[in-house]
Amino acid sequence: MRTQVAIIGSGPSGLLLGQLLSNAGIDNVILDRVGREYILGRIRAGVLEAGTVQLLQQAGAGARMQAEGLVHDGIDLAFAGRHHRIDLKSLTGSPVTVYGQTELTRDLMDHREATGGRTIYDASDATPHDFDTARPFVTYDKDGTTHRIECDFIAGCDGFHGICRATVQDRGIRNFEKIYPFGWLGILADIPPVHHELIYANSERGFALCSQRSRTRSRYYLQVPLTDTAEAWSDAAFWDELRRRIPADVAERLVTGPSIEKSIAPLRSFVAEPLRFGSLFLVGDAGHIVPPTGAKGLNLAASDVHYLFEGLQGFYGEKSEAGIDAYSGRALARIWKASRFSWSMTTLLHKFPDSGAFGQKIQEAELDYLVHSTAASAALAENYVGLPY
Ligand code: APR
Ligand code: PHB
Repeated sequence: MRTQVAIIGSGPSGLLLGQLLSNAGIDNVILDRVGREYILGRIRAGVLEAGTVQLLQQAGAGARMQAEGLVHDGIDLAFAGRHHRIDLKSLTGSPVTVYGQTELTRDLMDHREATGGRTIYDASDATPHDFDTARPFVTYDKDGTTHRIECDFIAGCDGFHGICRATVQDRGIRNFEKIYPFGWLGILADIPPVHHELIYANSERGFALCSQRSRTRSRYYLQVPLTDTAEAWSDAAFWDELRRRIPADVAERLVTGPSIEKSIAPLRSFVAEPLRFGSLFLVGDAGHIVPPTGAKGLNLAASDVHYLFEGLQGFYGEKSEAGIDAYSGRALARIWKASRFSWSMTTLLHKFPDSGAFGQKIQEAELDYLVHSTAASAALAENYVGLPY
């Protein structure tokens, strides 16, 4: 088989890139190790920056998000028993859109199917080859046969545990990593959200987040030790602990119900440099991971896709390599700023094992400054709604 761009990974990065390329008449094939339903079974974050919304619309897959996404003009920061609103819209001119990553992925998959895009699911052992020559190709196994896709470029959209970054480990790649000493226990439940916007809560007992997927589906998180297991947390224990970590007036309004999903995710910051190796590009989680506190994971995947798409469009349209040459640098400049923001939100809001009562007081002082200083609120808002591409 021959294509222009072979895309490894059918998550949001691969699907968004594939659709933008197809719309521009650039042929592409997507390969994934697993199947559609498995991919759609993953529960991930759900806050979209305006740039991500715009890209999804540009891809032609934004109709349901436009109809069902919840536009939020602000977020609440809770600490010391109080909560304060950060008015994102008035501070930056931009809101965010709450729409689950699972739904966004489903919309992109449906649109790809409807527009005749080629996706090969259950493709095992996908491997990029010869990407430092003029004739790269990808091999994969399916139904007992090894297949080969000849291409011009390979987009490594295969997530943090994918094969593409692993393939370039001995080619001068630098990995920057920070592991946080806690995880997030998340619950999904068909109950109305406790508040119409998100609440990020710092408390002496640890961080909590009140989020949502729709007016009838809520997503809540608690900071927990990495040694905890989701099975050991009953729903009742989760709700009790959540009530203790959020301000009393919010806790009183909390509606609880049976969880439909419960899991623990570790928190990590990770950036690989560079993101280009000849004709192989690392995109999205394949190149970087942020802790979920700033809701940047999916949005960074989208900005990577934007830069790479522009580069590939320049290559095929204007026969210019300037855009693909600039990809790694442009993407990394934005990735590092979002990594800094995600790290600072994580540091500000979580309880760290060695920070003690002094650390708690410093966090509260910083939060108090943040919510009462227009300059500090604006800096937070600007980062939360997303820095310009
Ligand atoms: N071969 C083929 N496909 C693979 C391989 C492999 N060796 N390894 C992984 N994949 C597939 C996975 O099955 C998955 O469907 O690549 C896809 C990667 O998707 P994601 O992990 O969702 O990564 P990405 O598309 O970059 O999306 C980034 O996901 O994790 C969140 O916070 C992150 O929201 C952000 C978004
Ligand atoms: C979520 O709804 O899953 C969510 C929202 C905001 C975050 C992280 C996760 O910062």
